[in-house]
Amino acid sequence: MRRRTFTAACLGTTLALAGCGGSGDAKTGGPATSSSGPEQTAKSVPGGAGGDVGVFTWWAAGSEKAGLEALQKLFKEKYSKDTFVNLAVAGGAGSNAKAKLSTDLQNGNPPDSFQGHAGAELTDYIRKGQIVPVNDVFKTLGGESVFPKDLLDRLTVKGNIYSVPSNIHRANVVWTNLDVLKKAGVNGTPKDIDAWISDMKKVKSSGVSTPLGIGGSWTQVQLLETVLLSDLGTDGYSGLFTGDTKWDSDGVKKAVAHFKTLLTYANTASDGDDWPPATDMVIAGKAAYNVMGDWAVAEFTSKNKKDGKDYGYFPVPGTDGTFDFLADSFTLPKGAKNPAGAKDWLSLVGSAEGQKAFNMAKGSIPARTDVAPDDFPKYQQSAMKSFKDDKIASSIAHGAAVNQAWLSDITTAVSKFYGSKDGATLVKDLAAAAQKNAR
Ligand code: GAL
Repeated sequence: MRRRTFTAACLGTTLALAGCGGSGDAKTGGPATSSSGPEQTAKSVPGGAGGDVGVFTWWAAGSEKAGLEALQKLFKEKYSKDTFVNLAVAGGAGSNAKAKLSTDLQNGNPPDSFQGHAGAELTDYIRKGQIVPVNDVFKTLGGESVFPKDLLDRLTVKGNIYSVPSNIHRANVVWTNLDVLKKAGVNGTPKDIDAWISDMKKVKSSGVSTPLGIGGSWTQVQLLETVLLSDLGTDGYSGLFTGDTKWDSDGVKKAVAHFKTLLTYANTASDGDDWPPATDMVIAGKAAYNVMGDWAVAEFTSKNKKDGKDYGYFPVPGTDGTFDFLADSFTLPKGAKNPAGAKDWLSLVGSAEGQKAFNMAKGSIPARTDVAPDDFPKYQQSAMKSFKDDKIASSIAHGAAVNQAWLSDITTAVSKFYGSKDGATLVKDLAAAAQKNAR
């Protein structure tokens, strides 16, 4: 059994967050010592509790919508008395949705369930008392025997489980256009960021003016996080959230310099640009590379592109052996109008059948450990293996490593840098953001 590094950013929080910096075995889902919450089990009523069940996500378009629809279809079959109400707000990574959700929660107008990232982001809602434990649903779903301990630790506070995970995504993936690379004479996988930049030069010389496809601010934050991971290594990167690695250290400065160079190979983007156009640049051969979470694989599939023939993928150079982790999960908000219906939704999301249907369409891997890999496409099978074998790092851009206030400051700093290209100021702003927000 391999011991894994799975540090997240819950350090120093006033809540007794179980599992911060913990380690365990994701394959077997060893006992989660922290989840000894209430012992009740969810009562299921045949056909469901009835009534409207308003579900809030940002899965409003393309392959993300397809994933939600797969769940919605199953929900209708299993809980025929319930009516699914789709409250999705478009914008990748919740770039628009989170602000709307925050207002609704503050105004006491919560949906029946909403999408939240496991880890630091979830703790925001817990700290504000906006969501309630779902121990009963979790227990009925099979609890610790079917969900990995490392993941549960990110959903658990003071022995209570606060959400049901739907999936696990990987953030440190480079998606490639194989034809473009072949024409540029690029072979093999670059071992680090410098080697990758050399390959970009070749692609540019072959006539592709923007070898790297990028989108708006959050996609750039994600790109930066993967470069930090590459240049600092997994432990150094994880130390950014524990205080062990300084945000103005030489390693961060090196990563910022790399980030700056990478952007010279990218298209021009505006802050609000979403991720599909950046991935589509690779699909259309207008870029060779796009760093994107593995929701991108569903975009390739939806455009009828074939794995290994049209497109390829590899971990961001220098991050092989590390899985840059994020997980979506669903909550039960305090004051939800239909909590029984919401529990039907949570039960579906956390079931093996729900996880298979959703993750096949979404590009992610099941959070449950008892869903067989065999039926999944090649990419997801490889991701399942990596999640099992690799070191785990927590994503900055997708709520695992930093809370929403910290992420917002990082995003502002990156957006400012995109305009100025002033690396020293970016390092200063990142250090200030950590100083202000780290708990
Ligand atoms: C992430 C989310 C993923 C995917 C992505 C792009 O934050 O966890 O499921 O939706 O944003 O929108």
